[in-house]
Amino acid sequence: MSYLVLGNGAREHAICWALSKNSDVHVMPGNPGMVLDADIVPGNPINFGEVASVAKKLSCSAVFAGAELPLVEGIADALASEGIFVFGPSRKGAMLEGSKAFAKDFMKRNGIPCADHQTFDNEKEAMDFVSKHPFPLVIKVDGLASGKGVHIVEDLREAEIAIKAILSEKTYGESGRVIVIEEFLVGKELTVMAFTDGKVIKMLPPSRDHKRLEDGDKGPMTGGMGSYCPVPDADPGLLEKIKTDIVEKTLAGLQKESIDYKGVIYCGLMLTQQGPKVLEYNCRFGDPEAQVVLPMLQTPLSAVVEAVKEGELERLPIVAKKGFAACVVLASEGYPGKPVVGLPVGGFNKAQTIENVLTFAAGIGGEPGKLLTSGGRVVSCVGLGNTLRMALGRAYSLAGVVDFKGKQFRGDIGGRYARGRTSIVDLRLKIRPRGGI
Ligand code: AMP
Ligand code: GLY
Repeated sequence: MSYLVLGNGAREHAICWALSKNSDVHVMPGNPGMVLDADIVPGNPINFGEVASVAKKLSCSAVFAGAELPLVEGIADALASEGIFVFGPSRKGAMLEGSKAFAKDFMKRNGIPCADHQTFDNEKEAMDFVSKHPFPLVIKVDGLASGKGVHIVEDLREAEIAIKAILSEKTYGESGRVIVIEEFLVGKELTVMAFTDGKVIKMLPPSRDHKRLEDGDKGPMTGGMGSYCPVPDADPGLLEKIKTDIVEKTLAGLQKESIDYKGVIYCGLMLTQQGPKVLEYNCRFGDPEAQVVLPMLQTPLSAVVEAVKEGELERLPIVAKKGFAACVVLASEGYPGKPVVGLPVGGFNKAQTIENVLTFAAGIGGEPGKLLTSGGRVVSCVGLGNTLRMALGRAYSLAGVVDFKGKQFRGDIGGRYARGRTSIVDLRLKIRPRGGI
């Protein structure tokens, strides 16, 4: 089989790596750090005509949309009309991610637990509302904002600044034409993703990401600084409840509303005292969750794509491996504000030869053999192990091998599970033959 993956981040590299075990993989536009796992094809994933002609020319069985933008813009519908299958929902289905107001109304209509909310496009009405409700409150831009459109406000003054910036000063452009104001939920966060062919859902092992830049969950929001999978505190009882109360109800809602959805449903959850509640839906794999969930998948990803394409997911068992995966993201100096780019990346080739780790390239440019930083999040360093501590130790060992000036990363990925993390010295990195994992 042959697949065309769309995107250029570490999540897309992980998707290419997973598919490449038994298939030919092409990636558009990809990056030069992916060359061992995919054939790099220049092009723009938002140019649907270009994607369709490349997919036809390369005889691809499916196009795999890594990030949300092509899906929200309707790539699945556009390519379906040319007879090309896209692993990802229709434009309507992708609105679960593309519009927070749509997602909240969908959840309310379908009895899916989430924070209470109101939607506004008018500054005065929004201010009237916040003046009558207790703080903290959460103010979200309706449209896509790369994970940065959420403001947690502690008082009326902060609320006024956020509402003005979004609705009047248009800081987020069209994405902020409408805002959602919602109740602040307290608890631990959890990511639960599932595959669906529109008929059944198949759960993936749970994961958790770390969204803030600095240790102790301080500093600005980022695209994600690290992750781990599975999550020891997500016990089977909790996962069963999430499956029945949230994921199955989401599929039932999609079916009832005749929304075509094939691919991954991502549920970002808050584990509150009243039970798990949905913070957000995404219409694709999480980043950096994909980097830890895909290595834990025993079932080949290509088999999942084919089963979803044929509407036969029910017959495919989704089997997880034993053990754990952990990811530490290396980011450029200045990220998430103004990342410094164009600096040489060392150790990347050496990293490819180490056992029990995976190196996924994101903000990497230049050319193979002469890689340069080209973005905020540069590399995802993934460690695998029988215990979470071991996986974290290996991820951190790898984070010491890949090097560029000013690199920043969190030291507390895994939180309490990292306590007594196996040190770099304990884990003498072993060289592995290529393809050994
Ligand atoms: P979202 O993009 O909606 O997932 O929000 C990004 C992050 O903001 C989440 O991962 C949470 O850390 C935080 N957040 C969003 N909504 C809420 C809420 N209602 N209560 C508390 N924290 C929230
Ligand atoms: N890790 C959160 C996201 O992918 O949106």
